[in-house]
Amino acid sequence: MFSIYKKIVNEVKEMERNAPCWCGSGKKYKKCHMAIEERMRIHADKGEIVPTRKLLKTPFQIEKIKESAALNTLVLDSVAEKIRVGMCTEEIDQIVYDVTTKNGGIPAPLHYEGFPKSVCTSINNEICHGIPARDIILQEGDIVNVDVSTNLNGYYSDASRMFKIGKVSERAERLVRVTGECVELGLAAAKPWGHLGDIADAINSHAQANGYSVVIDIGGHGVGLEFHEEPFVSYVAPKGTEMLLVPGMMFTIEPMINEGSPDFFIDEDNDWTAYTIDDGLSAQIEYMVLVREDGIEVLTK
Ligand code: MF3
Ligand code: CO
Repeated sequence: MFSIYKKIVNEVKEMERNAPCWCGSGKKYKKCHMAIEERMRIHADKGEIVPTRKLLKTPFQIEKIKESAALNTLVLDSVAEKIRVGMCTEEIDQIVYDVTTKNGGIPAPLHYEGFPKSVCTSINNEICHGIPARDIILQEGDIVNVDVSTNLNGYYSDASRMFKIGKVSERAERLVRVTGECVELGLAAAKPWGHLGDIADAINSHAQANGYSVVIDIGGHGVGLEFHEEPFVSYVAPKGTEMLLVPGMMFTIEPMINEGSPDFFIDEDNDWTAYTIDDGLSAQIEYMVLVREDGIEVLTK
């Protein structure tokens, strides 16, 4: 009886091992995701947070998401070419809408949970989710985050840049520079089979070393098949904590760095825009990345 049972279990295992992998690579499971999932199980058994299968993008999905990401970068480049003193943020919104739709995409923020525009433009003391408008004019000395997210054929991408409008203060200059360094250090700390907390720790340490704070309650996110997916990505977590980084995962590295307090309040009129509680400057830069077996690939920035 027992030996027959064992034989059946082994046969089932053999069958699964030799079945085509769930990711659609065309390879047998044992030659494809089996090793990855066995390695994940070792971490899960130690109590670590591991991604579900649906967070691991398939080769086909990766290809489609990369097309979306390439358009996202094109949109950001188009904004970079035109942004200037005296421009209203509504004009940035128009550029984003036009370039995205002319290339077959849809701006992901538009009507997302009621968001009224195609892009977020967040100036100076605005941390994120600033809403473009005709009467918001870019002034000499402003620092502005332009956060572009694209839906192309149902696949999502997301990245943001900081722009310095004309000559900016030494203070603003330093915040923008350090924010860029934070993202680069976070990226350098990201490794397959490491943890999201490694990225957070690199970012938070550098921000603190420069006298800045990292916003705690707003973070990054998984992205690709949806605009916002699991996991929530904190940029204040300790090294070695948070979700395991498994090949196939995609998420954003988008810390918000504040001059003063990390605390914020939300605009009562529009229910979106987050402002620094102490009126200090805030900067954010966002990369969207893919975890690969051989390292981390930036898809759009
Ligand atoms: N990259 C931003 C985010 O992930 C984009 C927000 S668009 C909005 O939060 F519609 F949600 F505002
Ligand atoms: Co984002």
